[in-house]
Amino acid sequence: MNSQYDSLAGAYTRLNTERPDRACIMVPTAQKYLGAVSGDVLDLACGSGFYTRQLKAWGARSVLGVDISAEMIRLAEAEGVLGVRYLAADVATMGVLGSFDLAFAGFLLHYAPNVEGLRAMCARIAANLKSGSRFVAFNENPYFPLHTTEKYSVQARALGPIEDGVVIERTHFRDGKKDFSFCHFHYEPHTYAAALREAGFIDLKWGPFVMGEDAEAGVGNGFWDEYVSGEFSIAVLECVRG
Ligand SMILES: C[S@@+](CC[C@H](N)C(=O)[O-])C[C@H]1O[C@@H](n2cnc3c(N)ncnc32)[C@H](O)[C@@H]1O
Repeated sequence: MNSQYDSLAGAYTRLNTERPDRACIMVPTAQKYLGAVSGDVLDLACGSGFYTRQLKAWGARSVLGVDISAEMIRLAEAEGVLGVRYLAADVATMGVLGSFDLAFAGFLLHYAPNVEGLRAMCARIAANLKSGSRFVAFNENPYFPLHTTEKYSVQARALGPIEDGVVIERTHFRDGKKDFSFCHFHYEPHTYAAALREAGFIDLKWGPFVMGEDAEAGVGNGFWDEYVSGEFSIAVLECVRG
């Protein structure tokens, strides 16, 4: 499942420019939760480098983007930016790549194929962070992992009962037609909490995505209500390396 992005890399990267939720919701959400960015930053599951480049522009001294997909890393490297480096690696097995001041992950933890893999990811992230530094992650919402509406051109359905390890299929639509699907796993809130705490993270919080200024221009008041309600299928995790 983790190599699924080699074939989806181009289609997924296209969402960054085509989808209004990127500029209206995701970028403002990253800025709100990250706050002031400085020092050396790790961007995990960096894909083709959308947030990696943003993190540098927001004030990071350096950013290292890590992704398991060689094709995603190839696309990221094609857009060279001074102070930004990339590495093709599995976060669950990556070594100590530095002593970072901040880690961001734009949809990573729910790709862990089992609880053991989730614990390994959390441990490797912690091993790369200075004590007191923050880890901010976009993720499946462990409290509300599904949504059936196609309103935001994406749907999330479970391929079994909601419990640790069940596969969630996320289907993206374009011009009203199915564009592509990919799968990740669901974990219960207490399972994420246990893996993060065991790795040494403290002050765990889950929060909603938020709207940027002018997010409703052109789409109408209330358009994003479900997305930012806290009960949408994706949420934001923040915690601190103890
Ligand atoms: C939904 S994409 C998000 C990419 C990017 N963060 C963004 O928001 O544009 C998820 C990414 O996670 C990567 N990924 C999945 N499992 C991984 C792992 N174990 N280690 C590193 N990257 C992983 C995939 O290759 C893919 O690029």
